[in-house]
Amino acid sequence: MSFTNELIQWYQQHKRDLPWRHTTDAYVIWLSEIILQQTRVEQGLPYFRKFLEHYPDVQHFAAASEDDVLKLWQGLGYYSRGRNMLKTARMVMDNYNGSFPQRYDELLKLKGIGEYTAAAIASFSAGEAKAVVDGNVYRVLARYFGISEPINSPKGKKIFQQTANDLLNEQQPGLHNQAMMEFGAMLCKPKNAACGICPIREGCYAFLHNAVSSLPVKENK
Ligand code: ADE
Repeated sequence: MSFTNELIQWYQQHKRDLPWRHTTDAYVIWLSEIILQQTRVEQGLPYFRKFLEHYPDVQHFAAASEDDVLKLWQGLGYYSRGRNMLKTARMVMDNYNGSFPQRYDELLKLKGIGEYTAAAIASFSAGEAKAVVDGNVYRVLARYFGISEPINSPKGKKIFQQTANDLLNEQQPGLHNQAMMEFGAMLCKPKNAACGICPIREGCYAFLHNAVSSLPVKENK
């Protein structure tokens, strides 16, 4: 079985039941991805629920005051995320008639949405074939394929993005992306990687070459 199919199979058996995995609503996925940008899932979950309760759709969000949003955001840090969300919600009302964009190219025009978040929303909400590359994906790819180019060098970023694009299952990009991230978060962890129970270790460069703890490489700047 291919690397990608193995991961998807592993994901379907072991994934966490997280609320944003039950929806294709781009607004709800956006909410979850912005909250999770610099925040662990356990910490982000109560905020995700709270925001959704106060602002069940982008219309409600856009009508909020900045004070209200920042009050709800309290404790999460990186408050520019909250401010950008409000700007984006209002842009969606003004420029998209309140219908949250699903296409990668449109999403990139919004505040606080970069390549990672645009790929996540586009693939989860509409099945657009865009590969997400976050810290989890860097780690999985660096180890499995033995890529020692620094993940934070311009050349490294290109190589990892290209590798992720080449691997993407274009029939099921959302599932593929979730599986890659979940595998990195739950099994191929930064420390204490669970190689003992890893279903793909026989093809893994780092496992076979005793390089799990030295990959990925990050350049000191
Ligand atoms: N971290 C960022 N996005 C995530 C997602 N969709 N599921 C779990 N963890 C995440």
